[in-house]
Formats: sequence, C-alpha cells, structure tokens
Amino acid sequence: MEKRSLGARALVFPTPVIIVGTYDANGRPNGMPATWGGVCCSDPPSIAVSIRADNYSYDNIKLHGCFTASIPSERYMVETHYMGLASGRDNNKFESLSLTPSRAEYVNAPLVEEFPVSIECRLSQTIELGSHTQFIGVVLDVKADIAVLDTQGEPDIALIKPLVFDPAKRRYFGLGAPLSKASALSRRMD
Ligand SMILES: Cc1cc2nc3c(=O)[nH]c(=O)nc-3n(C[C@H](O)[C@H](O)[C@H](O)COP(=O)(O)O)c2cc1C
Repeated sequence: MEKRSLGARALVFPTPVIIVGTYDANGRPNGMPATWGGVCCSDPPSIAVSIRADNYSYDNIKLHGCFTASIPSERYMVETHYMGLASGRDNNKFESLSLTPSRAEYVNAPLVEEFPVSIECRLSQTIELGSHTQFIGVVLDVKADIAVLDTQGEPDIALIKPLVFDPAKRRYFGLGAPLSKASALSRRMD
C-alpha cells in the first residue's frame, strides 16, 4: 500500500450527522446539523458537538446550558441540509421545513419529532478549541421511535437508517449492510 500525506486535517470517516436542538431567548426552536461530534464518554454517558461561535445554536446552548441531539434518517437529507444552510437567527427552520419541535422531557430544548432518535443532554463542559467550541453534554435520556426498536427493545441502526457524512468530499451517505456482530470481534467496546 503506497500512502500519501494529506497534511494536518480534521478527517474521520464517516462523521455522524447530528441535529443539535435548542431554544433561543424567545423560546423559538432551532436545529442545526453538526457533523463534528459524537460519543465521548460511556460513564457518565456523554456526547460532544463542536460548534462555531457565529452559529445561533452556540448562543442558545450558552444561554440554556443544554441541547438535544436528534438523528435524522436518510429520508430527511434535504431538510438536514437546509438546516445547515439557514440560520435560526433569521427564520424558524422548523416552520419552514414543516418539522415538529417537541419539548424534551429533561432539558429545555426541542426534539425533532419526525427523526427516529433524540438524545437529551445537559451541558457538562465547554472547551474552547480554536475554530470550534466543544460542548459536552451528559445524556439524561434517549428517546427512540418504537418503529426502530428490535424485539429486545434495542435501537436497530438498520431501521434508523441514519445519514452519515463524508468530511473530505462533503457528501451524505446512508449505511451499507451489516458485516459482523462486533461482540464476536472484541471483548470491550465501550
Ligand atoms: C452537513 C453539515 C454539517 C455541519 N456541521 C457543523 C459542525 O459540526 N459545527 C458547526 O459549527 N457547523 C456545522 N455546520 C454548519 C451549521 O449547521 C450552519 O452554520 C447552520 O446554519 C447553523 O445554524 P444556526 O445559526 O441556526 O445555529 C454544518 C453544516 C452542514 C450542512
């Protein structure tokens, strides 16, 4: 294998597509896609999203100290992309997209009702990294559409059909078929 240096770049393949849900100071719901994010701790269960300070969502997280992370399924690619082009500073993206903001149970932030999985997070740490600020949220609850649960009640990624992102070419992808059960490959993965 002949390897070529691509330089120092923030690349991981793929990155998840997370819709960060917040309310603004007037209680208006907002959502923005963040692909710079993911799971960052098992105990306490935590996820991180990295957000530029000029995004409205940044102000909203600072204001309320919480956010939600909703996972869009493939069929919401267009809506997801729109949320990444428009700002909640200028318009109510939920209304523009005919999406439903439902109030989270444990935090003061909206969930995207149409998306199959939503995670309710209380802000636990804020880390200034440079271009982005990393917001780490302790997960207080995960809400999943019963249609994406398997017979044991576990979320099934094949039913969720999440969007994933290619950070190099900036393309959306869906998932392929499962290859193997990871428990057969490794003892400890969390
Ligand atoms: C696919 C995609 C992924 C994005 N990921 C991030 C991200 O991880 N962090 C970030 O600060 N902005 C990211 N953006 C840009 C914001 O979503 C965009 O600036 C959005 O308009 C901010 O909305 P707001 O002003 O309502 O918060 C992404 C945009 C797209 C389309």
